[in-house]
Amino acid sequence: MTVMAQDRPLDALADFPAIPSGWAYLDSAATAQKPRAVVDAITRAYGETYATVHRGVYQRSADMTLAYEAARKRVAQFIGGAENEIVFVRGATEAINLVAQSWAGTQLKAGDRILLSQLEHHANIVSWQLVAERVGAEIDVVPLTADQRIDLDAMAAMITPAHRLVALAHVSNVLGSVLDAKRASEIAHAVGATILLDGCQAVPRMPVDVAAIGCDFYAFSGHKLYGPTGIGVLWGRYDLLDAMPPWQGGGSMIDRVTFAKTTYAPPPGRFEAGTPHIVGVVGLHAAIDYVESIGLERIHAHEAALVRETRAALAAINSVRLFGPEDSAGIVSFAVEGVHPHDVATILDAGDKNGGQVAIRAGHHCAQPLMEALGVPATARASFGVYNGPADVEKLVRGIERVRKIFG
Ligand SMILES: Cc1ncc(COP(=O)(O)O)c(C=O)c1O
Repeated sequence: MTVMAQDRPLDALADFPAIPSGWAYLDSAATAQKPRAVVDAITRAYGETYATVHRGVYQRSADMTLAYEAARKRVAQFIGGAENEIVFVRGATEAINLVAQSWAGTQLKAGDRILLSQLEHHANIVSWQLVAERVGAEIDVVPLTADQRIDLDAMAAMITPAHRLVALAHVSNVLGSVLDAKRASEIAHAVGATILLDGCQAVPRMPVDVAAIGCDFYAFSGHKLYGPTGIGVLWGRYDLLDAMPPWQGGGSMIDRVTFAKTTYAPPPGRFEAGTPHIVGVVGLHAAIDYVESIGLERIHAHEAALVRETRAALAAINSVRLFGPEDSAGIVSFAVEGVHPHDVATILDAGDKNGGQVAIRAGHHCAQPLMEALGVPATARASFGVYNGPADVEKLVRGIERVRKIFG
């Protein structure tokens, strides 16, 4: 029987047998816990259906190849792209590096400019710095609005035809700020720039349609989407991918190899050198089926409600400072006055005499330039997933009250 999205309970904790009772896991922005459906799919793929892909002439390999390519089709449907535009990579980091090395490394020249924003994850900063240094390009940074979103008015004012590449987070991993991705793409395209969106924090928490957005590249990781680690996706417009040289050489990415000259496979195979993460791809397929069985609109609304509750409760505690906009997507960063975020996280993890352990992230969240702009060395961050509910928010708030007591 097919489970209809509207029939699913949104507090999907029962689908996650590995989350112990009473533990509030509030670190999904780092990595999401895995539903049983994904774990089962991985077990099967490493077990009774395991074989290599694209090479074997025996039945099991042919079946695994079908499963691998079916996953590509599923990813394409999931984000509104075409099958031959989906490149399997290790994660968002590798997806961004691929575009930086293969696209920017061959398209940009000295004097060209790259536009990033103040809130980017290091993956969407350092990858561009590496290529900028190599080709002599310069990097500019779009500031944030007062409520800590990427300031698109400022972006429109500062972008010039020298900006050949724009790379922005669709959802901030620290602040939860949601980018108006369509407008950002229009602003980029108005000066002829190519735009990449880092969708790591968007795909697990809202519907994404790259065609409707109108961007050129889109990157995300499987493990934040309730899927396995070590697998991610680069979506790119086919004409762009087709014009890009390979960035790694090896098996599977070639058309014909001779010592005199090698020709390459068309995309996406051109960018998938070597034996791929077969089981990761199968697990990613199961993860997409899982989130779609609930519905991304519902997940978005669910997390938005938890964010509202959390922000209201923390705002009522007078020594707590909240970061990010009111309507942040599933992520709340905060600071407790006079207490280092690591101490906050440690006290939350220890729980109280009734259990009540809460797992949050504390640190710079791979966004040091953002920390500098916020004027803090680190923040505490609570981030939600489909398994969280109001009880987790209560545990977090009780934990913060404990932190205040301990630190006087
Ligand atoms: C916004 C954002 N971009 C990029 C990344 C990098 O993802 P990965 O480490 O899975 O490649 C992350 C992970 O924290 C992220 O949150």
